[in-house]
Amino acid sequence: MLEISTSILTVEEKSATKTFYDLEVAGTDYYHIDVMDGKFVEKNTEKIMYEYANTIKQISNLPLDVHLMVENIKENIDRYLPLSPSIITFHYEACTSDEEVIKFINYIKGNNIKPAISIKPATSLEKIKKFLPMLHMVLVMTVEPGKGGQKLIPETIEKTKELKKYLKENNLETYIEVDGGVNKDTINMVKEAGVDIAVAGSSIISANNYKQAINELK
Ligand code: DX5
Ligand code: ZN
Repeated sequence: MLEISTSILTVEEKSATKTFYDLEVAGTDYYHIDVMDGKFVEKNTEKIMYEYANTIKQISNLPLDVHLMVENIKENIDRYLPLSPSIITFHYEACTSDEEVIKFINYIKGNNIKPAISIKPATSLEKIKKFLPMLHMVLVMTVEPGKGGQKLIPETIEKTKELKKYLKENNLETYIEVDGGVNKDTINMVKEAGVDIAVAGSSIISANNYKQAINELK
């Protein structure tokens, strides 16, 4: 069954603790932590996301799904290690070589965390095929990384389907996550593409009833 990872990017600071609690009660499967450094993407969320992740660790045992949209991958992995996230995702485009990609995968794995790579909408699958056997998951960005509340780019669903087909043909059990523009109008496309985890931010956080919003997506 499709799992939902709720992006906490747009959670308001003054009600953050209550929101995190309510999201757990509502049945989110993961908390999706969008770490932005002001370099790989324009926005900088490093401080607030780190605070939020710490708050969540104090009140919930649900897994953290950390999405690093940063240039300095090693520094950010190290910052999140003490919080024992379930998954750490870094961007292929932020790496300078294939050797570096493999180095980060092994570093994350060596710390008993599941490694994942994300690709932006314009990055082709060819670039990451060789890493698939080493990865727990691929995060296919369905919008340009950088902000919440954007529209899903339909071509990225084609890419997701192609990835699913390739994994099947090669007997690989790598999970697929999509991120960006997931809401009740786009969720069927996402499901048809064989996605394992869908990230949803604004469609859940802006809903009056989180439980209803999550159930509708599931
Ligand atoms: C975009 C982030 C996403 C995004 C999801 O850069 O990685 O996690 O905020 O938000 P929605 O669901 O609003 O597109
Ligand atoms: Zn994200």
